[in-house]
Amino acid sequence: MKMVTAVINPYKLDEVRNALNQVDIAGITVTEVKGFGRQKGHTEIYRGAEYQIEFTPKVKLEVVIADEQLDTAVEVLTKAARSGKLGDGKLFVSEIRQAIRIRTGEEGVDAV
Ligand SMILES: Nc1ncnc2c1ncn2[C@@H]1O[C@H](COP(=O)(O)OP(=O)(O)OP(=O)(O)O)[C@@H](O)[C@H]1O
Ligand SMILES: [Mg+2]
Repeated sequence: MKMVTAVINPYKLDEVRNALNQVDIAGITVTEVKGFGRQKGHTEIYRGAEYQIEFTPKVKLEVVIADEQLDTAVEVLTKAARSGKLGDGKLFVSEIRQAIRIRTGEEGVDAV
């Protein structure tokens, strides 16, 4: 199992959710977050100038999926979240060691 953690622009959330819905994702966790990337929260690149870090509102998505779903999920998510402008966000993939569905006790990929 893998977890895809994506930090995206809030206005892209609906589009991303609809796109993921097409590829049979069983669950998703969404959190409102704030952060900064290479431009330190600004919308332009300032060369050489010192400027303050600003936190920008973003949305964090966490999706746990079977290994076979990874490529599709990453492709769909990236495509839906991209505007081509600075601040489109980032996607991280990590290994999930175990998943348990609390109600039934199912484990591993069956729990997802
Ligand atoms: N290395 C990182 N670790 C954790 N979170 C990050 C990292 N880089 C970016 N983020 C998160 O992603 C959000 C969006 O980052 P952003 O898309 O601006 O990255 P970037 O590297 O500056 O790319 P771009 O040049 O396209 O803007 C940030 O506000 C932050 O929450
Ligand atoms: Mg940036």
